[in-house]
Amino acid sequence: MALVSMKEMLEEGAAKQYAVGQFNLNNLEFTQAILMAAQEEKSPVILGVSEAYIPYMGGLHFIAGMVKSLIDYYGVKVPVALHLDHGSSYEVCIRALHAGFTSVMIDASHHDLETNIAITQRVTEAAHVLGASVEAELGRITGREDDIVVDEAEAMYAVTEDCVRMVRETGIDCIAPALGSVHGPYRGQPKLGFDRMGEIRQLTGLPLVLHGGSGLPDEEILRAISLGTAKINVNTDNQIACTQAIRVYLQEHPEAYDPRHYLVPAKKAIQESVQAKMRLFGSSGRAGGTA
Ligand code: 13P
Repeated sequence: MALVSMKEMLEEGAAKQYAVGQFNLNNLEFTQAILMAAQEEKSPVILGVSEAYIPYMGGLHFIAGMVKSLIDYYGVKVPVALHLDHGSSYEVCIRALHAGFTSVMIDASHHDLETNIAITQRVTEAAHVLGASVEAELGRITGREDDIVVDEAEAMYAVTEDCVRMVRETGIDCIAPALGSVHGPYRGQPKLGFDRMGEIRQLTGLPLVLHGGSGLPDEEILRAISLGTAKINVNTDNQIACTQAIRVYLQEHPEAYDPRHYLVPAKKAIQESVQAKMRLFGSSGRAGGTA
């Protein structure tokens, strides 16, 4: 099945109160495991690629080619969106679209509101010509997103009025308001701004995106979904599952040297982690007539 944009899957999720997971690609094994999980769960899926991983994985064209080849090779029939995660500039978003990505996040949240809106507007105009979807961020999410660290002093909750303006002036397809979630492991008890989440959903009418989906208690995830969150990003929990499986294998087999021997259990651990998220988010069995 050809790659699709996130628009329809997120609108359906928001309407039927479930969320589609964005699982970040770290390498070939993550890509295989996430696609197998989606196929197994009959779930739509979003493959996220953050900027730091573009050079690591061999460039945008290689990543898009690898994803398309694996979809063909496995005969994947569920809807799959290939999404640029936290694109920091107009240029990187356009390059991703040119390479065949079907969705981009323009994260111009490090600029002032006017500039954030102006850049997001340009990206949306271009993406929509190609039938691709666009996500934008307001406020700033703390923690480590690959090589980008936002400390607590820089963290900012999204302001409802700014979200409404962003949606009205840009035509984006979904919005990621920073409301207390954190990239990477949580330190202490997470405090999500649920009241504002409900308000932003109601006033914008758009599916909401929750970044930093790892390590949140299940009740908080379910509450976010009930308030209109239709996309949840997860990376750290899958990375932890992968690394833990490799650590255990190498401890039990100190003589091992063939990467396949420890990457097979790692891939299985990633797939299990992703499948558990899909069940929690309620996206299992939602691939419609295509599964
Ligand atoms: P975690 O790594 O905390 O799951 O966050 C992933 C994310 O939000 C990617 O944009």
